[in-house]
Amino acid sequence: MQAIEQELTTHWMGHPATVLATVDSTNRWMKQQWLSGVCQAGAVVWADEQTAGRGRLGRQWVSPAGRNIYTSVLWTPPRQRMGGVLSLVAGLAVARAVWEVTGLEARLKWPNDAVVHGKKFAGILVEGGTEPAPWAIVGIGVNVLGDADPAFAHATTLEAALGRPVSRETLWVSLMGQLEAAFDTWLREGDAWAAEAWAAFHATLGFMVRVERPGVEPWVGLAERIDPDGGLWVTAPGRREKVISGEVSVRLADGRYAPDSV
Ligand code: BTN
Repeated sequence: MQAIEQELTTHWMGHPATVLATVDSTNRWMKQQWLSGVCQAGAVVWADEQTAGRGRLGRQWVSPAGRNIYTSVLWTPPRQRMGGVLSLVAGLAVARAVWEVTGLEARLKWPNDAVVHGKKFAGILVEGGTEPAPWAIVGIGVNVLGDADPAFAHATTLEAALGRPVSRETLWVSLMGQLEAAFDTWLREGDAWAAEAWAAFHATLGFMVRVERPGVEPWVGLAERIDPDGGLWVTAPGRREKVISGEVSVRLADGRYAPDSV
């Protein structure tokens, strides 16, 4: 893993790449690097294990050694273009990398889960700020080898989905290439491009979904379309709302985590 940066064919993504045997959270590590002024856009960290991996909505991201990818990349958008759209751009890169390396048709469950055969194998956690300049850290966790933790019924790994092991190194190299391509295209083409490209991989649109927000009665509606800012329009009789990813979780109304096929 140490020589992995030499495998990259990217111009700026993954330069430099730091590989750690263990860390509390790659997102936290990268944020500390950024705030100490020792890194710039394209810096990436990949850890073999996380002892305090972070998921969305304050959840834990279980991160055992030797099996998965836990990686965080630093982006500094030229102006403040953060928010939900970054999750879309990163999700797109994950789906494309998985296709490139395994041939599996990964799908994207709004806002930022990657699923295969209806089960989650990857999650994305974007954190950002504006000091000392606009920055975003995109953390990506991919379950690659072995079987998923049986405690998470809706989780899977790429090996389980494919029926054979997948090289973490090959997948990570592909992911860096796809992240660079997606980020460059997004900067050139804008948010509408990202929403459209994401929609080509969706596992959400056209399905009845249950919207759950802490402290608010859950409700069910049709996941209609995605906005360029990453918001999801959900409609029910007498109600139409744009759901923003911040504190919401969305499941299929029939109880499934994601559709088996789209
Ligand atoms: C989610 O689906 O809830 C998002 C999970 C994001 C996990 C990744 S693993 C690498 C990076 N470091 C973290 O602490 N979290 C993200």
